[in-house]
Amino acid sequence: MKVNGTPTRTIWLAEDGHTVEIIDQTRLPHHYEIARLASLDDACRAIKDMLVRGAPLIGATAAHGLALAMRQDASDDGLATAYDRLFATRPTAVNLRWALDDMRQRLAPLPADQRAGAALDRARVICDEDVALNEAIGNHGLTVFRTLWERKGKPDRFNVLTHCNAGWLATVDWGTALAPIYKAHDAGIPVHVWVDETRPRNQGASLTAWELNQHGVPHTVIVDNAGGHFMQHGMVDVCIVGTDRTTATGDVCNKIGTYLKALAAKDNGVPFYVALPSPTIDWTVKDGVAEIPIEDRGPGEVCRLWGRLDSGDTGWVTVTPEGSPAANPAFDVTPARLVTGLITERGVCSASAEGLAGLFPDRSAAAE
Ligand code: MRU
Repeated sequence: MKVNGTPTRTIWLAEDGHTVEIIDQTRLPHHYEIARLASLDDACRAIKDMLVRGAPLIGATAAHGLALAMRQDASDDGLATAYDRLFATRPTAVNLRWALDDMRQRLAPLPADQRAGAALDRARVICDEDVALNEAIGNHGLTVFRTLWERKGKPDRFNVLTHCNAGWLATVDWGTALAPIYKAHDAGIPVHVWVDETRPRNQGASLTAWELNQHGVPHTVIVDNAGGHFMQHGMVDVCIVGTDRTTATGDVCNKIGTYLKALAAKDNGVPFYVALPSPTIDWTVKDGVAEIPIEDRGPGEVCRLWGRLDSGDTGWVTVTPEGSPAANPAFDVTPARLVTGLITERGVCSASAEGLAGLFPDRSAAAE
């Protein structure tokens, strides 16, 4: 997608041909800054501290992190250490494990002196494939949106609600949940997006709103608790979100608060879609609530907020009284029964074991 009119990805190879550059997402929307990753340490820090975030981009950065590690130490021990350190950065998005497993499986059989080159080649392919998968999701999602819009009699405003940031900033390009929104906007469907602010880190207010602004998509930022109200008043035509891990049975784990939106959507008859590239499916997990590890990011993000101050500087403010404890589970699980459909690169299916196996018979059979 474009930043100030220039086509941009979230991660790319620097001019030196081996270090990697990223958009530092902790600085948006008030500062647009590029950060350079030159080592395994840099890649681990970028994922853990959320300079990069979003399930597909976490996977892509981990792949590049492993490539950087192979330049430092391409021995078997070096490969194992790099895998373990990257794997430990964030627990919920399964794309991290997917990318690391893919890389390790290809690198392990190679002699050490061939690993750095092969790792970089593969990391670049993973990034390119992510772009293609997300664009395909966008095309399938466009069909879903067009059908819903036409069924409603082509209203002047087609209201989409989304939570967190599942846009191009969460992937290498296009995004998952936002890809259909960009496609629909470009196709002339009068999309308007309700952007949940998405406390505690405000990925909706800071990242989704920034992206939509860059592409000229009409949108309104709302507090996290407003979605149900707008649904009750017929002001949401469809909800669409991304996911960090989808079970083989169609449960979806996404940013905290997604579950409440799905409940409100069910109560109000609003279709609730989840957009995902296949590396986000964890074929080993059947019960999302019981089995998916939920990241605990500590109380700091709940108690403090970063933003632009009246002085024009950016800074932190504390919103809780001293001494009040805070809890911060970063994700929740939306059971498959609340999901209208899963939009993948291969098409749309029901959120069920049968639906996913129907679209991905090769992968589901391999996992059994
Ligand atoms: O904590 P984050 O910002 O990494 O969480 C991101 C999300 O929850 C996204 O919705 C999810 O990764 C799907 S992104 C395409």
